[in-house]
Amino acid sequence: MMEREGLVVGNWKMELSHKGECEVARSLKRLLAGRKVGVEIVVCPSYPSLPAVSELLAGVARVSVGAQDVSPEESGAYTGAVSVGQIAPFAKWCIVGHSEVRARAGVTDEQVQAAASLLLARGISPVVCVGESREERASDRTVARIEEQVTVLLNKLTRTSLTRLVIAYEPIWAISTQSPSVLPDPAEAAGIMLLVRKLAAARFGSEAAQRLRILYGGSVTADNVPAFVAEPGVDGVLVGGASVRPRELLQIAQTVADVRAT
Ligand code: PGA
Repeated sequence: MMEREGLVVGNWKMELSHKGECEVARSLKRLLAGRKVGVEIVVCPSYPSLPAVSELLAGVARVSVGAQDVSPEESGAYTGAVSVGQIAPFAKWCIVGHSEVRARAGVTDEQVQAAASLLLARGISPVVCVGESREERASDRTVARIEEQVTVLLNKLTRTSLTRLVIAYEPIWAISTQSPSVLPDPAEAAGIMLLVRKLAAARFGSEAAQRLRILYGGSVTADNVPAFVAEPGVDGVLVGGASVRPRELLQIAQTVADVRAT
């Protein structure tokens, strides 16, 4: 079975100023100097800071930069939107379908799929977020909702895209800014992630599905990350709040590397 590389994605959301984002990037560079972390780290600043952060982190081993979202349209009259072509000079990664974007902008599963396809065509790795709401969970619709999101996504992708596609399972009710945010049982979250891999296997075969990286996201901190990555089939984490603290982000990355090495 092929070994999937561990991955930690930091989603900085709209938490920092431009100066603050550059400072976090500089700190990461300083803290990583002469140090080897056995996982890939991706940080996702806001659009205006993408060029500066990508320049600051250029050449820092194991770290790359991503955008937080992208338009499902290639170009045109879409005021306020940002295209794949516009992020391409600065981003090797891009989060798509984050629940905050889905809720705010009414983004559909089909639009998330379209954005993922455009990214893949451009050589940018999509980190596609899937997850159920509190209401969906309460009415036992978690599995149905995940199946729907993943099926729409995978139906239009090719088998080869699984080497670059990442799916992040983020139960919406577990995101740190939800109130109350509740940490899921790691085994339960891993069960949903196993379902995601099974859906990939059903579409592309089990060997190809082994190449897909699946992350857990929602209130991840340096303290709770071991419990999530110790579960089988969990390749890393998508971190929001804790990712703007450079020391904590690196501690999370180190823990992911350590747990996966054991
Ligand atoms: P959180 O955010 O780690 O602050 O819960 C995760 C996310 O929304 O991607």
